Amino acid sequence: MPQNVYDDPQFFEGYRRLREDGPALNEALEQPALDSLLPTSLAGLRVLDVGCGFGGFARHACAAGAAQVVGVDISSRMLEVARARTPVRMPIQYRRQAIEALEAEEDDEVFDLVVSSLALHYVADYPAALARIAALMAPGARLAFSVEHPIATAVAAQQWHRDAAGRESHWPVDGYQHEGPRHTHWFIDGVIKHHRTVQTLLDGVAGAGLRFARLLEPVPSDDDIARLPWLASQRRRPSFLLIAADKLR
Ligand SMILES: C[S@@+](CC[C@H](N)C(=O)[O-])C[C@H]1O[C@@H](n2cnc3c(N)ncnc32)[C@H](O)[C@@H]1O
Repeated sequence: MPQNVYDDPQFFEGYRRLREDGPALNEALEQPALDSLLPTSLAGLRVLDVGCGFGGFARHACAAGAAQVVGVDISSRMLEVARARTPVRMPIQYRRQAIEALEAEEDDEVFDLVVSSLALHYVADYPAALARIAALMAPGARLAFSVEHPIATAVAAQQWHRDAAGRESHWPVDGYQHEGPRHTHWFIDGVIKHHRTVQTLLDGVAGAGLRFARLLEPVPSDDDIARLPWLASQRRRPSFLLIAADKLR
């Protein structure tokens, strides 16, 4: 059974607050990096957002002139918010579907752009997920996705080590080569994230028949840190890894 932690009321409330109480790491680092992997124009594209959450990217794609926008997510709570935030003039289709069961609604349904932001590390079978995604990509389509960086997920605690004064002393990396589930505490106990190496992340792209295009490990700029000083520790270790890959024509 795929994990559906975003439907847990306590987790959902914690995550909702995180995303609503000012810019989170997503807005500050991950989203700008993901944007840089997208085609210059989304106009006329058929767009699929895998693990769409509150539907922020789906609405962005719709406003940018995408011809069709579909957002899929396993969490009914996330989709409820996504639907509530989507104006009626935006014909976005939200579908409740696990990535593990991702499939076309109609036989010939394919997309020109597939985006997945911070969802694939919740999926145990990464090669199978990429194969399902690739099957939904039109020839020449782009896939752009982000996951929590393997350096951040190697140790389940996902915490800085601190010195006696409480300052961040170092980020522990251990068991890097030991891939698999990490039972971590994030708002609640027992949140499962699947740790995999950079090599596995890239091999999965090739294994799904896609051509690797770019890999990003976003770092905050001086301006970012001047605006949001708490971003400074992001220069010491990466939080996110992003990959862009294309389906051959
Ligand atoms: C960190 S949130 C990111 C949401 C959105 N992509 C964004 O960037 O704002 C991860 C999302 O992935 C969804 N998700 C996690 N595991 C999933 C699965 N197996 N199938 C479909 N969606 C999943 C969650 O329900 C959640 O909405």
